[in-house]
Amino acid sequence: MHARVVAAMTTAVLGTVSFLLPVHDARAGISHQPSVIAHRGASAYAPENTLKAVDEAAALGTLWVENDVQRTKDGELVVIHDDSLRRTTDAEEVFPGRAPWKVRDFTAAEIARLDAGSWFGPAYAGARVPTLKQYVARVEHHRQKLLLEIKNPELYPGIEQQTLKLLGNEGWLDRRHLANRLIVQSFDADSLRTVHELKPAVRTGLLGMPAVADLARFAVFADLINPSYASLSPAYVSAVHALTGPHGKPVKVFVWTVDDAATARAVAGYDVDGVITDKPDVVWRALSGH
Ligand code: G3P
Ligand code: CA
Repeated sequence: MHARVVAAMTTAVLGTVSFLLPVHDARAGISHQPSVIAHRGASAYAPENTLKAVDEAAALGTLWVENDVQRTKDGELVVIHDDSLRRTTDAEEVFPGRAPWKVRDFTAAEIARLDAGSWFGPAYAGARVPTLKQYVARVEHHRQKLLLEIKNPELYPGIEQQTLKLLGNEGWLDRRHLANRLIVQSFDADSLRTVHELKPAVRTGLLGMPAVADLARFAVFADLINPSYASLSPAYVSAVHALTGPHGKPVKVFVWTVDDAATARAVAGYDVDGVITDKPDVVWRALSGH
């Protein structure tokens, strides 16, 4: 009786595990399933870079979220994509005389007053621009992983050190987070090198698609090369994978921003390691063969 119960439980568990484990899709040439990363949160379904977008990603079962970090006039780290508040908040209405509404020209208290949800839809009215501290707390709450982009670092001297300090204070630089829950990325190679030098244990990703001949010098400090899908090729992914990164492992590729099933299958067939998407459900279904 006991043995039968154990057998039944084992079958149930294995059934669940086989659903969760990577799927081998011979037709698409997919030998392992890439990670799915919710771009600016699940930004097709909730306003980008808000806590709602993190929650939506979690509701869809997405382990990874990507965000963009910048800095206010009074030195608070906040999560927002553009260097201006115009597109994703009501800053023009609330502060009519403050054109061009640059993030760095507003204090954290001023930015906290802004509505960062109504532009997306009335259901999201009142969503706020989160501070990085609030954001990592929400990601932690959902036990998710964070792909943190340092955005426009040339505008914010010292932002690398400040970001690492905040991550450390919030418990994101312990062994477990460093091992598999945090990657810091940037389009700015110098900024990324600075992150690596300040905290060599942090995994880093260089956004963009450097020439193959230049890859080796970036692999000194970058664990990933994260290109747009538009001009990506299997040969480029192989060239990246052939390199050894700063932590002694092959350099990986997280590709962006893939929002349709056909492209998701195509890049998975190139053997990328992660797919950054506004629609994690679409990519997940495409890669699961549904
Ligand atoms: O993570 C990749 C992607 O976020 C880079 O582009 O402009 O959306 O920050 P962007
Ligand atoms: Ca980004």
